[in-house]
Amino acid sequence: MAFRRGGRVLLAFVLAFCLSATKLEAQLHKGYYFKTCPQAEFIVMDEVKKAMAADIGLGADLLRMHFHDCFVRGCDGSILIDSTPDNTAEKDGRPNNPSLEAEAFEIIDNAKKRLEAECRGKVSCADVLAFAARDAVVLSGGLYYEIPAGRRDGRVSKASETLTELPPPFFDLNQLTWSFARKGLTQDDMITLSGAHTIGQSHCSSFNNRLYNFNSTFGQDPSLDPVYAAQLKQKCPNTSSGANQQVPMDPNSPTTFDTSYYGSLLAHRGLFTSDQALMSTPVTAQKVWENAVNGLAFQKKFGEAMKKMGNIGVLTGSKGEIRENCRVVNGFH
Ligand code: HEM
Ligand SMILES: *[C@@H]1O[C@H](CO)[C@@H](O)[C@H](O)[C@H]1NC(C)=O
Ligand SMILES: *[C@@H]1O[C@H](CO)[C@@H](O)[C@H](O)[C@H]1NC(C)=O
Repeated sequence: MAFRRGGRVLLAFVLAFCLSATKLEAQLHKGYYFKTCPQAEFIVMDEVKKAMAADIGLGADLLRMHFHDCFVRGCDGSILIDSTPDNTAEKDGRPNNPSLEAEAFEIIDNAKKRLEAECRGKVSCADVLAFAARDAVVLSGGLYYEIPAGRRDGRVSKASETLTELPPPFFDLNQLTWSFARKGLTQDDMITLSGAHTIGQSHCSSFNNRLYNFNSTFGQDPSLDPVYAAQLKQKCPNTSSGANQQVPMDPNSPTTFDTSYYGSLLAHRGLFTSDQALMSTPVTAQKVWENAVNGLAFQKKFGEAMKKMGNIGVLTGSKGEIRENCRVVNGFH
């Protein structure tokens, strides 16, 4: 009896050790490039700053790119890979093309070129993108957050996976919650991360069903403020060229990382079904209200949620590779 108990205790120790060992191997670290490339984060910040000084809207693309990278095969830089004659890559999937600007991908290229010159083969494209997304938040007036690094780059990128992994703008609350839960994120994380829609632009095609053909009972979505709907209809005529127009996601402060996105939701002025869906239950509406009124608490939560999102499915240790050119897997000519 004593022996069996001892055996079990030993087994428990061995198990705990193995678990913690695999966990250690799979972890990202703060200051990961402290020895191998101390200027890494500075160089990325510098390139993002230059690009946003010329076109502040590019910050939103970087933030969205990191989200779209992490939700498809983990944060492995797979969104940066170019299509080839044999493979249509993520960046050419419907959720990314044409909405992610070519110039935003060039920011990553420029940073990576400098990093390769400075410390060859050390800094992954996935980390460059995670840093750049944070810098976009900071340069838009959001709160700085530290990013544990050490992600390695994947070698696979498939456009088809963007359709199964990324939530579309017509999702309701249950669908959104499920889409984030699949990635290990809570409903609260989802509400917090949706706050990214405080910057950037959307094509009319992402929401014009709410203006013109909502369902068989309502032409226009009754959850959308009619005054705002009328303004949107002006900018988004019900034609194919109208569908290609763009509008600011947060018209109150289109380029500032603040909480006015949540204020708009309280006023029934969420742009997408998925935005306004956050108001569809008392529990989630309460969180929207908290984010709307407490800016500092929201900013802190946002940084924490970004860290969590930045951890999804990461490749570490000997998995993956450090891509030399973010657009091409190593050894592909
Ligand atoms: C909750 C589910 C989400 C849905 C359904 C969604 C959907 C969309 C859609 C449809 C657009 C507009 C694309 C276009 O038509 O041009 C957009 C833009 C954007 N999204 Fe999301 N998104 C979600 C969550 C997120 C998250 C988690 C982030 C980042 C943390 C994010 C960041 C952005 C940004 C910054 C833009 C503006 C992009 C630009 O200006 O180019 N979104 N989103
Ligand atoms: C919008 O355009 C579609 C397709 O052209 C048409 O079927 C629909 O009736 C139009 N809706 C409104 C409200 O004009
Ligand atoms: C149309 O949308 C409204 C509001 O969301 C909803 O109450 C109604 O059940 C929908 N009607 C149909 C036919 O789907």
